[in-house]
Amino acid sequence: MVEAMSRRKTLNFPLILTVLTIHFVIVAGEYFKPFNVTYDNRALIIGGKRRMLISAGIHYPRATPEMWPTLIARSKEGGADVIETYTFWNGHEPTRGQYNFEGRYDIVKFAKLVGSHGLFLFIRIGPYACAEWNFGGFPIWLRDIPGIEFRTDNAPFKEEMERYVKKIVDLMISESLFSWQGGPIILLQIENEYGNVESSFGPKGKLYMKWAAEMAVGLGAGVPWVMCRQTDAPEYIIDTCNAYYCDGFTPNSEKKPKIWTENWNGWFADWGERLPYRPSEDIAFAIARFFQRGGSLQNYYMYFGGTNFGRTAGGPTQITSYDYDAPLDEYGLLRQPKWGHLKDLHAAIKLCEPALVAADSPQYIKLGPKQEAHVYRGTSNNIGQYMSLNEGICAAFIANIDEHESATVKFYGQEFTLPPWSVVFCQIAEIQLSTQLRWGHKLQSKQWAQILFQLGIILCFYKLSLKASSESFSQSWMTLKEPLGVWGDKNFTSKGILEHLNVTKDQSDYLWYLTRIYISDDDISFWEENDVSPTIDIDSMRDFVRIFVNGQLAGSVKGKWIKVVQPVKLVQGYNDILLLSETVGLQNYGAFLEKDGAGFKGQIKLTGCKSGDINLTTSLWTYQVGLRGEFLEVYDVNSTESAGWTEFPTGTTPSVFSWYKTKFDAPGGTDPVALDFSSMGKGQAWVNGHHVGRYWTLVAPNNGCGRTCDYRGAYHSDKCRTNCGEITQAWYHIPRSWLKTLNNVLVIFEETDKTPFDISISTRSTETICAQVSEKHYPPLHKWSHSEFDRKLSLMDKTPEMHLQCDEGHTISSIEFASYGSPNGSCQKFSQGKCHAANSLSVVSQACIGRTSCSIGISNGVFGDPCRHVVKSLAVQAKCSPPPDLSTSASS
Ligand code: GAL
Repeated sequence: MVEAMSRRKTLNFPLILTVLTIHFVIVAGEYFKPFNVTYDNRALIIGGKRRMLISAGIHYPRATPEMWPTLIARSKEGGADVIETYTFWNGHEPTRGQYNFEGRYDIVKFAKLVGSHGLFLFIRIGPYACAEWNFGGFPIWLRDIPGIEFRTDNAPFKEEMERYVKKIVDLMISESLFSWQGGPIILLQIENEYGNVESSFGPKGKLYMKWAAEMAVGLGAGVPWVMCRQTDAPEYIIDTCNAYYCDGFTPNSEKKPKIWTENWNGWFADWGERLPYRPSEDIAFAIARFFQRGGSLQNYYMYFGGTNFGRTAGGPTQITSYDYDAPLDEYGLLRQPKWGHLKDLHAAIKLCEPALVAADSPQYIKLGPKQEAHVYRGTSNNIGQYMSLNEGICAAFIANIDEHESATVKFYGQEFTLPPWSVVFCQIAEIQLSTQLRWGHKLQSKQWAQILFQLGIILCFYKLSLKASSESFSQSWMTLKEPLGVWGDKNFTSKGILEHLNVTKDQSDYLWYLTRIYISDDDISFWEENDVSPTIDIDSMRDFVRIFVNGQLAGSVKGKWIKVVQPVKLVQGYNDILLLSETVGLQNYGAFLEKDGAGFKGQIKLTGCKSGDINLTTSLWTYQVGLRGEFLEVYDVNSTESAGWTEFPTGTTPSVFSWYKTKFDAPGGTDPVALDFSSMGKGQAWVNGHHVGRYWTLVAPNNGCGRTCDYRGAYHSDKCRTNCGEITQAWYHIPRSWLKTLNNVLVIFEETDKTPFDISISTRSTETICAQVSEKHYPPLHKWSHSEFDRKLSLMDKTPEMHLQCDEGHTISSIEFASYGSPNGSCQKFSQGKCHAANSLSVVSQACIGRTSCSIGISNGVFGDPCRHVVKSLAVQAKCSPPPDLSTSASS
């Protein structure tokens, strides 16, 4: 096998070279001057230079191509150097051999946009992605290949996987997207967290892992490959870390850099669950610690999460929104304070980058039981951009990892009080002065000037508002009844219970199972006399089942491989038992995905009959895949008219399993648009034929949110949850590019008897913005007091600034509160404290009103000193408004 492979490669080699040469000549250097990417123990080496890199995870199909430029630009503005994405095999090859690289799956366009913004690209080809994506990214047809076993040493699987991975690499080469072609791609990933499941496959696991690594590097991509969570990765692949914290991670060889492929800066959510929230202070702490302890590339999973449009959400039962509590929210708006806080952090890391890359390893200094410093010292010419002094550059991180207590430590003669769970960045210029300064004050050589870049505690609060248009959305609806059970001529009858996915091939969430049972007089009297009900028992089912008896809903159950015991009411004679098995996103994590399946497992019985249980597992069942409306594509704008829609006036008694349709005009302006389905039950929605996704109004438990969220201490996905007692997802993103000005068609399929009259539409924008930033508390800057020298030093230092920013197109219309001094309270509850500069409001108003964004320096130089010897802060609450013409049109 190995021999055959290498023979094939040798034969291909000259051919690939020819292709490359041609492309190189035509388009090389389109985005960058071609450069090589290698690595050493410290970092990726990009074009010959070690780099400290911030990477932003954005999955292209979770946004529209129209959103991509803004998302990439906002990532760049937030401080990202790299954009990271998986590829999604089931999106690119929905039918075996038929590829799709269009629309939201136009990965080439996405890659080119990344390049045109001057950012690098890290593609995690997978092809297993996990990613809360349907079936982990595997095409459903893969499970039908005879003899296939996923992610192990299995010939049919390896053949398909290699074909796909090669397809992606070749596509990128043909579009000149690799660094050595002048493109943005600097890094690739094969597989995903295989180390988590490798042992489940026995010795074949390792064989497969090695094969995958070898296959990947053999494709001629010419950039380094990583494997995440793969401690046994071969020496030519970088093993990387995925976790909430990766500072303690070490790669499996001293020749490899420390890379954090997934920094889980938030988490995903399930229907009926509370929403995750990870405080930005903790994320910043985790990242600072990573770079402190030798890290070199950190990727946000996710920087922008986006939306699981259509039926792309993974399982079990993950929601349509993939907001992920990311720095850019589901709509692509800046999520504050997260986005801004992390932007400041990235700036601090960048300031230290020359020193971080110059040192091979840091000097470690223990400062206390839970306090430590790491000093990176090197020589670099980069210092010259800040100072015209001689060389010598140094960066240090001082950490207090105590979860509860602040600590005061001494570092280079300087005292630092460190809040719990915090890291202080220092830039230290090691200055060796060879000449005497003009004014005759001779400095000793190698004196230390400490230039502190301390991340001040910056508090910012932003409140997102939904601006509902004042008119209700629509009162004019059409309806179409969806038959319960068998509706088409493609139904078939078979003995026994067939596995859900074997029948549906995931073409629909829905599979109807219909059987008929005979109930005797004896049974009826037995139940009446004993006052008991028979039950339908299903040994094991996932994700959702509805049980109908004689056309009436008896009950429904949600779960993952759980037992169902449903009491039912039967009549004497023949009774129709109808089970509707519903998938809500196929399993995306774990080993043996091909075997997991969906629907029912084990036996299905009618229990409690006089003569004992009736085993329905061996009965004749009639199967119907999907809904008639899906088959007729009643959501398609062109094919809706013929389907038999009728008016649905208000007051009409609704019936379960109905389709609804209405027309609506787009809200004015360019703000993102969302529909509120909180008045509905469970179903799916389409706008102008685009599949918005599944909706479900399950409510999160009332408890488990906690009144406060303490960022200190290790984060886990259940810490700091929000949204208790609320519907997990009420709002659904309708991308602007799907909308026309007038007469947009919304089609809904609703499973319950809820009516659509209360659906509403909103635009999303940030209305109230608040921020609070403290002035810098300067430690005495040594004895050097000459102003010229100070000026040079201070170029490296920065006066803290408050940045206020409204969404694009919105401007700051009023300052509702401003106080430089010792203000109290928090956003929307600010009040003046004892110390207050009388000019606060006028200074802030002058700097900000009428602007989309503004910055104000936080210092006595700007406001005057309202109270000496007090560390002051500025607190501001401002209002953002859309341009006047839009605010009127939105509310008219
Ligand atoms: C990781 C996985 C990602 C994603 C994440 C949770 O283990 O690699 O793809 O599923 O968990 O959001």
